[in-house]
Amino acid sequence: MAFLQKFNLEEKVGLITGAAGLLGKEHAYALGEAGATVYITDLNQEVCEKACVEIKKNCLNPKSVYIPLVLDVTQEDSVKKALGHVIETSGKIDILINNAAIDPKIKNNQLENTSRLENFPLESWLFQINVGLTGAFLCAKHFGNWMAENGGGVILNMASDLSVMAPDQRIYQLDGIGEKQQPVKPVTYSVIKSGLVGLTKYLSTYWAHKNVRANAISPGGVFNQQSDEFVKKLTPLIPLGRMANADEYRGCIQFLCSDASSYVNGINLLAEGGRSAW
Ligand SMILES: NC(=O)c1ccc[n+]([C@@H]2O[C@H](COP(=O)([O-])OP(=O)(O)OC[C@H]3O[C@@H](n4cnc5c(N)ncnc54)[C@H](O)[C@@H]3O)[C@@H](O)[C@H]2O)c1
Repeated sequence: MAFLQKFNLEEKVGLITGAAGLLGKEHAYALGEAGATVYITDLNQEVCEKACVEIKKNCLNPKSVYIPLVLDVTQEDSVKKALGHVIETSGKIDILINNAAIDPKIKNNQLENTSRLENFPLESWLFQINVGLTGAFLCAKHFGNWMAENGGGVILNMASDLSVMAPDQRIYQLDGIGEKQQPVKPVTYSVIKSGLVGLTKYLSTYWAHKNVRANAISPGGVFNQQSDEFVKKLTPLIPLGRMANADEYRGCIQFLCSDASSYVNGINLLAEGGRSAW
């Protein structure tokens, strides 16, 4: 068998959480192009269906199959119901991508900016951790357990370059306002992303004997119409000298979700243009 064949995901069933967002759709292209049946899950049916139509239209594999499914990762009943539906309709689950997260939009017109640690509301802390970290735990618990009991599978957690580095708050600073108004990357982001690396390592040993592999990907910032000022401050911190294009993680997804990575378990694959090497 040609080694390239190991990337083939035909006969595999995958599920992506938060799949209607920017990178979720990219993961869907990656899995669908390699032949997998992919459940596109997010908070409501309408966004899942809309995302499926868009992904199917643009996917280069005409045989790709995308199925919309509601899954709120913070609700254990929703996770169990989604697992039941996947097993009922496709007979199995091989790949779970824990991708859902809150990308907090920082407002800078407040007297005391609430993104700042000293002002950060407890509700925001609980809400964001609930989605980004507890949600990944709940999905791993139920989907991972099913995999462990049924021959194995792959869990992939979407972390961030900020899982291994502190945010450089200088790149978020705005001119003409005082320190108390300055937006920052919130503390939750670092805690969630480094927590996901811990979860990944835990999972990678927990069910290894049952053929469940768990890995993480740590993307760097994706260019998505951020301001010129922000891009100018960020790009000199990245050895490759630019932000990522949204489609540049597809190769990581295809590698880590397929047999091409059959001996890779427990890693945090940094895909951040070399930023953390500096
Ligand atoms: N975009 C980047 O530059 C970047 C960089 C590094 C890491 N990441 C990580 O990649 C992942 C995807 O990022 P993105 O930019 O596509 O984000 P996004 O905001 O575009 O998408 C996130 C999706 O999660 C969904 N979601 C929110 N709460 C949910 C819940 N309770 N249950 C299920 N789904 C829920 C949202 O509806 C949304 O569709 C995130 O984990 C993010 O932290 C992104």
